[in-house]
Amino acid sequence: MRAKITVVGAGNVGATLAQRLAERDYADVVLVDIVEGLPQGKALDMLQAGPIVGYDSLVTGTNGYDETAGSDIVVVTSGVARKPGMSRDDLVMTNARVIASVVREVASRSPETILLMVTNPLDAMAQLAGAVSGFPRERVIGMAGVLDTARFRTFIARELDASVEDVHAYVLGGHGDTMVPLTRYSTVAGVPIADLIPRERLDAIVQRARDGGAEIVGLLKTGSAYYAPSAAAAQMVDAILLDRRQVLPCSVRLEGEYGIRGLFTGVPCQLGAGGLVEVLEVKLSEEESAALHRSAEAVRDLVDVIDSRRDEVGAGIPSLGTGALIGSRP
Ligand code: NAI
Ligand code: 2OP
Repeated sequence: MRAKITVVGAGNVGATLAQRLAERDYADVVLVDIVEGLPQGKALDMLQAGPIVGYDSLVTGTNGYDETAGSDIVVVTSGVARKPGMSRDDLVMTNARVIASVVREVASRSPETILLMVTNPLDAMAQLAGAVSGFPRERVIGMAGVLDTARFRTFIARELDASVEDVHAYVLGGHGDTMVPLTRYSTVAGVPIADLIPRERLDAIVQRARDGGAEIVGLLKTGSAYYAPSAAAAQMVDAILLDRRQVLPCSVRLEGEYGIRGLFTGVPCQLGAGGLVEVLEVKLSEEESAALHRSAEAVRDLVDVIDSRRDEVGAGIPSLGTGALIGSRP
């Protein structure tokens, strides 16, 4: 039987992701949105691309959830995107309501599925999805680090006129202004970037990677990035569905790794069949560890906002598990 992937949200990220997944030809795709006709129209259009591109994936569009039953993976992209002048955090309460209701719908019909969260503010929405679904941490994974790392790799490659494939890098932490590009672990064909790029240029590249989302929002004016975000989510789906055991930076609920407990934060994760296989603990310097903890604190602040306003998110929303431990500062 073919695998089944649901993509909730048929907007920029969701529809582009659905197309990328259909073209991989390894699963049928169900596209869900609240706007009548939107997922149906986009799905039919994608289905009709099959004979040209050469895929047999069935793509179905719907405003309901019955068609999503038994999904192997559900990618959640529904919600509001940033406009110029807005931070990802400005979206928190609006998107929390969307995520709580969407996760209830999909989790009740696909209790064994793996949730891949995309909606912003990413780490807080993943934390909410984990609480609402009650799924084990292996099956609730947030997409951000792959995107942030891809931006960092792109800028390094452009700086050195190198192939992006030769650039290896990691961006850890929450998907926000406090994200942590790890320059010490970043290399080009095995050579540390600190040996190739002067300090002040490297600092500028790090800052541009941190601001990567805002730079695109500023140019588009009516929405945020979606080509690279959908490619990032598709890479994570590949790793899980094809059991690739690839190590990718993802947001998962940490259980003591990196000195953080009970909170979603971006760290290197091995993905394979079943979702999260393992969190990889790379050795961080004191400065890197402090930066990661500051980033986690920013996530915790948002989680606390949602938790304190749970009644506005929906009836019977469970606690998001506040009181997360970060380093020595509970
Ligand atoms: P978009 O506005 O193009 O699409 C969002 C879609 O969600 C719309 O079609 C809307 O009708 C739908 N939607 C809203 N409420 C819904 C509900 N209750 N049920 C079903 N569908 C619903 O936005 P875009 O650009 O696709 O971004 C989606 C989300 O992903 C945003 O929150 C954005 O900030 C986030 N994002 C996160 C990234 C990351 O790295 N984690 C990267 C890029 C975007
Ligand atoms: C981005 O980084 C908006 O989070 C989205 O492009």
